[in-house]
Amino acid sequence: MQNRGAGYQGSLPEGFGAVWFKTIDSTNDEAKRRAGEGAFSDAKPNTWPNTWYVAGQQTVGRGRRGREWVSEPGNLYASLYLKPDCTVAEGAVLSFVAALAVADTLAEFASDTADITLKWPNDVLFNGKKISGILLESSTGTLGRLNWLVIGVGINLAHFPRQTAYPATSLQAEGVDASNIEAVFEHLATHMADWLSRWRDEGFLSIRSAWMARAAFLGQRITISPDGEAREGKFCGLSDDGALMLKMDDGQTYEVPAGDVFPTENNRR
Ligand code: BTN
Repeated sequence: MQNRGAGYQGSLPEGFGAVWFKTIDSTNDEAKRRAGEGAFSDAKPNTWPNTWYVAGQQTVGRGRRGREWVSEPGNLYASLYLKPDCTVAEGAVLSFVAALAVADTLAEFASDTADITLKWPNDVLFNGKKISGILLESSTGTLGRLNWLVIGVGINLAHFPRQTAYPATSLQAEGVDASNIEAVFEHLATHMADWLSRWRDEGFLSIRSAWMARAAFLGQRITISPDGEAREGKFCGLSDDGALMLKMDDGQTYEVPAGDVFPTENNRR
């Protein structure tokens, strides 16, 4: 029999529900399957079906750019299915909304001295190391409008991968007790609802300033490889649609739509 998960009985913000799985292939895939089955197909845009799919572990956890997301028990794996009434481009910036929600969630558990920053485009850093990743997937309807969108969030609570291009960590490795996964999830659901409301009410410019206030490497020299070719320059901000703005040594500014950011080793120039 197909694993349908159990309805979550804990406390969630109004208008949100959750289905909890002990094990699943990928919470993003489950959300997409339900969308394919026609779940919420009768829901009008902006009625916000708002369902979280959460799992204790994933057998085929997926990261950005086709990477694997190692998903052993002990960490949080959660995907939020939404039906926002917006264009695909407007919906794409919800990764920044999600990153802010994750940062606020971590702050609930960490001490005041913890350094929680956001690394473009979708990562959350804890004391300079990656603790959370976000994977957005969507379906386009007519006239470039979003049909549905899934925001997948992984947060390293108990463990983290060792051999990564960018150093990783977990709350436990940073000396923070976050063994109550349900409590972490409820904080995430609450902060996500709050940041989504702010996005709906105030738009991306408000989200962008909040994101920039927590941005890692802003004003610093970085290296980014958007198309296989490494480019180096100063990270000088985000464009109106969330692209990274890179100021080159010749004074020109490029808008980089995708890529992985690394601080340049000699950051002084
Ligand atoms: C990244 O590469 O940084 C993004 C990682 C996203 C992982 C989360 S875990 C919950 C959801 N299900 C998946 O298969 N991936 C996302």
